[in-house]
Amino acid sequence: MSIRYLENRRMWILETRRTAYVFAVNDNNRLQHVYWNNSLPYDSDYADPQTAMFWGGGVPEHPVMHPSSLQSVLNLEYPTHMDGLNYHEPCLKLCYHDGVRDCRPDYVGHTQQDDHLTVELSDEHYGLAISLHYRVIDDCDLIDRWVEIRNLSKHSIDLETVMSAALHMPRGRRYRMSHVTGRWVGEFQIRRDLLTEGKKVIESRRGFTSHESNPWCAIDACEATEESGEVWFAALHYSGNWRMTAELGNYNRMALYAGVHDFDFRRHLEPGDAFTTPAVSCGFTQYGFGQMSRNLHQYQLDHILPREHARTMRKILYNSWEATAFAINESDQMKLADRAASIGVEMFVVDDGWFGKRNGDNAGLGDWYVNREKFPNGLSPLIDHIHGLGMDFGLWVEPEMVNPDSDLYRMHPDWVYHFPNRQRTEARNQLVLNFCRNDVCEYIHSMLSQLLTDFNIDFIKWDFNRAISEPGYPACPIEHQREVWVRHVDGLYAVLDRLKAKFPRVLIETCASGGGRVDLGILKRTDQAWTSDNTDAFDRLKIQEGFSLAYCPKVMMAWVTDSPTGLNKRTLSLDYRFHSAMMGSLGIGGNLNHWSDLDMARAKHHITTYKSIRHIVQEGRLYRLLSPRDSNLAAVQYVTADKRESVIFAMLHSLENIDMLPVIHPRGLQDDQRYTIDHLGTFSGKSLMKQGIGVKLFGDFSSTLIHLKS
Ligand code: GLA
Repeated sequence: MSIRYLENRRMWILETRRTAYVFAVNDNNRLQHVYWNNSLPYDSDYADPQTAMFWGGGVPEHPVMHPSSLQSVLNLEYPTHMDGLNYHEPCLKLCYHDGVRDCRPDYVGHTQQDDHLTVELSDEHYGLAISLHYRVIDDCDLIDRWVEIRNLSKHSIDLETVMSAALHMPRGRRYRMSHVTGRWVGEFQIRRDLLTEGKKVIESRRGFTSHESNPWCAIDACEATEESGEVWFAALHYSGNWRMTAELGNYNRMALYAGVHDFDFRRHLEPGDAFTTPAVSCGFTQYGFGQMSRNLHQYQLDHILPREHARTMRKILYNSWEATAFAINESDQMKLADRAASIGVEMFVVDDGWFGKRNGDNAGLGDWYVNREKFPNGLSPLIDHIHGLGMDFGLWVEPEMVNPDSDLYRMHPDWVYHFPNRQRTEARNQLVLNFCRNDVCEYIHSMLSQLLTDFNIDFIKWDFNRAISEPGYPACPIEHQREVWVRHVDGLYAVLDRLKAKFPRVLIETCASGGGRVDLGILKRTDQAWTSDNTDAFDRLKIQEGFSLAYCPKVMMAWVTDSPTGLNKRTLSLDYRFHSAMMGSLGIGGNLNHWSDLDMARAKHHITTYKSIRHIVQEGRLYRLLSPRDSNLAAVQYVTADKRESVIFAMLHSLENIDMLPVIHPRGLQDDQRYTIDHLGTFSGKSLMKQGIGVKLFGDFSSTLIHLKS
């Protein structure tokens, strides 16, 4: 890893293990992007800004251009509005106190501390300071970027757009954008589309990360595959309103902008105030989408997930939500716990319904005290019972929400987002608590602290089951009103950070009606994620594939639930359901009271197997061998870091015309290492990767697990 500053060229070279990210100060004293790709042998290989501007198309010459077109090919490191004739997306758009909306940030200096570079810009006349931060994550080939804006003047400044970064791809190629889209029970569906002139925007304006889109994307030059081809990608550390805009200009200039969404956004900076953007992790690889994922996964394990549990194995959990919904009580939960423990489950989670007057989704949220009709003796007898069985205990909460039918709401109707003279729109019969308010955050923090102190709780599932509407905070000065979107996330992160600091032992699962809040921001504060309320093991293949593009298998919670599945009535074998769920961190969500002795024995067998391979799944390198999007046979492989072990899940959709199934070619093995596969034999890694493995699968929805040991 190195960050080098070439003083005579006013150029920075940020190198990771394989890549270089280069920018320099141009003749106008602006920062200009120069290069982002594999690192080059000599510093002199990196062009000066003037030359870099016309690089692309292969001719490093100054073409004859209309002067107004010049800025159309200018790759500014942090473009502002207007700063001359800049009609591309700006990273920064603001309004000074006198109505001037033209921001001109000169380079003024830089500092460097180890892997962290800060470049200082200033619009001196108006006392605006911009700090561009870069942190190099060498082993993952990533650079984290974020920006701090400070008002050093005597007047206020209104920020209207503040992106975390602009990222530039080489000019003159055709590009695609890969991203995920979806909805409730259908998250993380992969899309890969050609970018044409204009903009492609992916976003959330719902106040949370969203099911509809997820804050990462990849850009490739229309030729990348899973294992080859150049891919540039970015993932935001943010759980609120966000935007990523890919812009192809008319001179083939390709750029990506990522940050907090500027829709309905305003940040009012009084003198001395500052605003810091969330970070965006930016990466490049020449080894396709697979390496992109592996770099991001490694980054989460090594740098993002809360340290306490980052490298521990996720326990196999049981959750009774699908089995019993709100109809829970002490004795029934104990019975389920006995059944769960008997098959090897390691953590028992009581989901929704244990608190307040919670018999359905229409009451109780906000009243986080134990429902004495369901648990006459409180939660302790159940918790002790569960601990006595050798399992950990977990509890569901939804701290940012309140039902109008709750004591909390009756006491504090002004604690929710609302506009005066407008109806408060309910969704799932609930309203969103205003986490911009200190008193609300304090209350929620002390309530959760109390819960974690009073009871011996090992795990909480933190849910968020509706989007924010009527984003009003009437008591707040009008010039700060549009800050609620951002301040909600600040409040949420602060409460989570305080809890994690006070109870580092407690694992937290992020959930938002399934996979609605999964991003690098929340994963800094939570240990795992609920992937989707859709637990159909076949639908899950595509959901999990999309999830795996950016997020690691350790955080991807997957449950084995009943068949036919509640939502879509598909019938699947227990083996298939287990294999699908074993591709992430395994959980059980079926009604164990209805499982036959045979089912229980089979479940125990799979759980035992999972315990012997989970170190490969949860910490290994992931290879998407055959995609369920374009193959009848889907296959996912995991390889340990030392390459001594690997596991492959092969999932057949349906055998048609007694066709030959595709041969599965493992990847990432060591050529000369000998691997043994039960019932098949011992082969070198090279042989397996070259010749592949044939699987015998018949019928519909059948599956197998192949364990390679050396
Ligand atoms: C959400 C979650 C579910 C469950 C319910 C409880 O939908 O995604 O897993 O916890 O809430 O109400």
